[in-house]
Amino acid sequence: MSREAVLRARHLTRYYEIKGGPFSKPATVKALNEASFELFAGQTLAVVGESGCGKSTLARVLTMIEPPTSGELTINGQAVALKPGQRPPAALRREVQIIFQNPYGSLNPRKTVATMLEEPLKLNRREMSASERRTAALEMIEKVGLRPEHADRYPHMFSGGQRQRIAIARALMLNPKILVLDEPVSALDLSIQAQVLNLLADLQEEFGLAYVFISHDLSVVRRIADDVIVMYFGQPVETGPAETVFSQPRHPYTQALFSATPVADPNRRRERVRLKGEPPSPLAPPPGCPFAPRCHRATEACSRTDPPLEPVDDAVSVACIHVETRASQAAS
Ligand SMILES: Nc1ncnc2c1ncn2[C@@H]1O[C@H](COP(=O)(O)OP(=O)(O)OP(=O)(O)O)[C@@H](O)[C@H]1O
Ligand SMILES: [Mg+2]
Repeated sequence: MSREAVLRARHLTRYYEIKGGPFSKPATVKALNEASFELFAGQTLAVVGESGCGKSTLARVLTMIEPPTSGELTINGQAVALKPGQRPPAALRREVQIIFQNPYGSLNPRKTVATMLEEPLKLNRREMSASERRTAALEMIEKVGLRPEHADRYPHMFSGGQRQRIAIARALMLNPKILVLDEPVSALDLSIQAQVLNLLADLQEEFGLAYVFISHDLSVVRRIADDVIVMYFGQPVETGPAETVFSQPRHPYTQALFSATPVADPNRRRERVRLKGEPPSPLAPPPGCPFAPRCHRATEACSRTDPPLEPVDDAVSVACIHVETRASQAAS
């Protein structure tokens, strides 16, 4: 597999302006701050971190649903340069498809599976005849592990796992290079999770797909990720090969996240990692490192600097003044 970057993010940043109300001032939420990484064909980059750390915001920016406030996004070697109000070229948008946690919300209840799968072809492959579209839809139905008789059924007639298969099939109809998967198996039972993960692995191999895989579930991430980004409060705090980051987590946040025991959350039907304390409010960020108030290694210096992500070695980067980086090694 060639190491060809299909997606490049440079300092991707997304702010939300919150309007003031009678009791509050207008404010800026820094939902995503300076995310830089590369994604390669056939590889899976996992994004992990607590609720509210900016994972879905990153997903929306990568899929061009929302423009970044600043930073650069390059897809297939082509820069996504956007002026306010501009839509990215359709050809570029087709390359990156998104899968959500709850496929029920994203599937039209009034359309059959075949209709949903044929729709993108109708819009984008004008040269195809109706019977060619039907054949392509049936082929895809089989590829995602459904049966031909499923083609003319409606979403409510399927189980959660099957619905996620339909969403994946639809996302693949125009041969994208990249899938952004935002908690794709978090709502599914464990046995079904495994089946959908196996399907994703098979499809990745067959089509050379690159995945951005967003998940709370570290055991899933460990199983499928090539590389990992650990996010805290909108910022990547540790990045590197998944194997290395899991076996030798360096950022105190990564260490805390990986050692926390998952707790079953009855309201969400999924396991969530809980750390001591809460992430800071985006409306009142602490001075310096945003993890400092919860960090066992924090010193007075941590409240003075918000450390940038810096390389520790060829593969791993960490944003913490207490972790020895190349720069600190060179300085001492
Ligand atoms: N449209 C918006 N307007 C204002 N604030 C927003 C908006 N979307 C997200 N945010 C804020 O940005 C931050 C990041 O949200 P995001 O949904 O990306 O987190 P997440 O990591 O996906 O969380 P979860 O694990 O719960 O899905 C949060 O503080 C959230 O409240
Ligand atoms: Mg989210």
